[in-house]
Amino acid sequence: MDMHVPLKFVEAVPVQDRLQRPLRELRMSVIDRCNFRCTYCMPADSLNGRGVFLPLERLLTDHEIETLVRAFVRLGVKKLRITGGEPLLRPGLPALVDQLSGIRGLEDIALTTNGVMLTRLADDLAAAGLDRITVSLDTLDEDVLAYMSGGQAKLEEVLAGIAAAESAGFRRLKINTVVQRGVNDHTIIDLLEHFRGTPHRVRLIEYMDVGNSNHWSPDDVVPNAEWVEKIGRRWPVRTVASDNPAETARRYEYLDGQGEIGFISSITKPFCGGCTRARVTADGVFYTCLFSDRGTNLMPLIRHGEDPQALADRISGVWAERGDRYSELRGAQGRKRPKIEMYRLGG
Ligand code: GTP
Ligand code: 5AD
Ligand code: SF4
Ligand code: SF4
Repeated sequence: MDMHVPLKFVEAVPVQDRLQRPLRELRMSVIDRCNFRCTYCMPADSLNGRGVFLPLERLLTDHEIETLVRAFVRLGVKKLRITGGEPLLRPGLPALVDQLSGIRGLEDIALTTNGVMLTRLADDLAAAGLDRITVSLDTLDEDVLAYMSGGQAKLEEVLAGIAAAESAGFRRLKINTVVQRGVNDHTIIDLLEHFRGTPHRVRLIEYMDVGNSNHWSPDDVVPNAEWVEKIGRRWPVRTVASDNPAETARRYEYLDGQGEIGFISSITKPFCGGCTRARVTADGVFYTCLFSDRGTNLMPLIRHGEDPQALADRISGVWAERGDRYSELRGAQGRKRPKIEMYRLGG
């Protein structure tokens, strides 16, 4: 289709928000359901029975997701992250990835998953053109893992998923580890030791006040500066310069050459200044911040609209008005309205 569009329209149209941040990355949730109930994301006691999740007919179809991603790519998006809930629960995900990997101008497609379904899907995802995988794993302690996942995660299944990704050719995984004081902090050194000497990068993530139901308190956060010091005493590390101003993690490498660690410090060192990330829910609502309390429903322009330009105009109009920097203002806002849940928006 692009072949018939004059070149000037094919090139990315630069769009900036009110803080001069371009639009570079799209995080697309493809389903809001999950087979885990992580205490920091979707605590089981917060889901009162039925009706919490989107009915499947409300999900964007594969074709609609492709239409949407194409619109974002026209506006400058180069990286797509597929998220959930648990994205591997979406039926036919490899076929969707295959469709998306054909989009010209989209340079990188990544996936965030809890890992257990990779044993079934990693090969197909690799064949479909998925570039990168991030696996969430908070601890190697079976009991702590069971607690943090709401009784759903089994260590051997997550590790089998990681092994399946490796053998499918995903050589360098990112491992996302949310740290909660008094919950899994005593198990972090073991986790790091396990991945030392592999190409995978563990990223320690400061526990965040996402959503409305995880009972977050600042006392539960371990500032990443504590880890840099503690880890450095065990295995000396040095910083790695980042070539990407939008990167969420500060990177360190072990001096003995055994690999890298990342620190995602959205509580103690917010990174809103470089935030070029747009987010869309599985039913087509566009959010400009992880902590937004309202979004823009793009579904009517996608499902019934015939006009890709109208869709792109709506997105760029919303982006141009964007002034979000929640993590920099946290607490100072006197916020009252409920935020969107992270399992609807993706990590
Ligand atoms: P790549 O650079 O594409 O590898 O992705 P990433 O480093 O952003 O990693 P990932 O998508 O795995 O995000 C890691 C974690 O960082 C998420 O699960 C969130 O906890 C946190 N995070 C990601 N993006 C944001 C953001 O825009 N704001 C805040 N506050 N936290 C974020
Ligand atoms: N704080 C920090 N990260 C979170 N995630 C989910 N909830 C939280 C939270 N409260 C992130 C984790 C997980 C991804 C899917 O979402 O990094 O890997
Ligand atoms: Fe599911 Fe990921 Fe949320 Fe855990 S953090 S409940 S695995 S979506
Ligand atoms: Fe971006 Fe909002 Fe996260 Fe800041 S808090 S980095 S603006 S998503």
